Amino acid sequence: MIPYKKFEGTFTFSGKVALITGAANGIGRATAEAFAARGIHLVLLDRQEGVREIATDLVTRFGIETMAAVCDITDNAQSDAVVEQARGRFGRIDMLCNIAGVVELEDAENLPEAYWDNTMAINAKATFMMAQRVGRIMIAQGGGKIVNMASQAGLVAIDKHVAYMASKAAVIGITKVLAIEWAEYGINVNAVSPTVVLTELGAKAWAGEVGENMKKKIPAGRFCYPDEIAAAILFLASDAANMVTGENLLVDGGFTIQ
Ligand SMILES: NC(=O)c1ccc[n+]([C@@H]2O[C@H](COP(=O)([O-])OP(=O)(O)OC[C@H]3O[C@@H](n4cnc5c(N)ncnc54)[C@H](O)[C@@H]3O)[C@@H](O)[C@H]2O)c1
Repeated sequence: MIPYKKFEGTFTFSGKVALITGAANGIGRATAEAFAARGIHLVLLDRQEGVREIATDLVTRFGIETMAAVCDITDNAQSDAVVEQARGRFGRIDMLCNIAGVVELEDAENLPEAYWDNTMAINAKATFMMAQRVGRIMIAQGGGKIVNMASQAGLVAIDKHVAYMASKAAVIGITKVLAIEWAEYGINVNAVSPTVVLTELGAKAWAGEVGENMKKKIPAGRFCYPDEIAAAILFLASDAANMVTGENLLVDGGFTIQ
């Protein structure tokens, strides 16, 4: 059962531990910073070396404890070892933010098979495998919060996004099944679906004219900043969201309501 815990009006997370994938850049990095600012201890994973420097910087600025690991989340042996190390170091993992992801765009008739395989391996399969790995720890400890990164492109059709859409629709589906299976263990599982976010990945997909045209279709009239996604993740990882599970929270400036 997901326990009732009165929301005190402030977002307090004292002593909690979060594992964040994709923490070296963009949304993952912004989420790590938002969590660190609230005193959450962090396990930061990325396949880029820069994740170590980010962890060190957050320790200096916020006085939290961190563990950084250079890890390819599609490699189960590496990921198992890192999660085991994190459990050894902190004793528990209260929150998992599955943020690492890629975008590889092409017209459907020309999409290389390798784009499909890579996109599905990172965005869909590795998201599930990490949830399974950390979910087992959360089941044993009596609860936790999981937030998976989906996308508006997991809900509505966007040109050249066939592999990406398949991967993000999978994330939304995975989120729902985990939510019903794990509610009895006190685990909330939700997804966040942004519109275009101003990160390296966002720039790759939406540079130039294609981006300007996209912006005109977003009622809010602009793209999103990484800290606006971190705020949504923080909400879903907090006690304010104890009764929210299986949800896909759109942070899209109204793009998908039209
Ligand atoms: N930026 C956008 O417009 C946007 C919109 C909707 C959803 N998203 C989703 O948000 C998430 C983060 O996107 P972002 O814009 O911050 O991207 P980003 O490219 O800035 O950062 C992604 C991070 O994930 C890491 N990563 C990728 N594959 C990995 C792997 N196999 N193992 C370990 N780390 C890996 C990268 O090294 C990078 O640091 C992704 O899942 C993306 O699909 C982004």
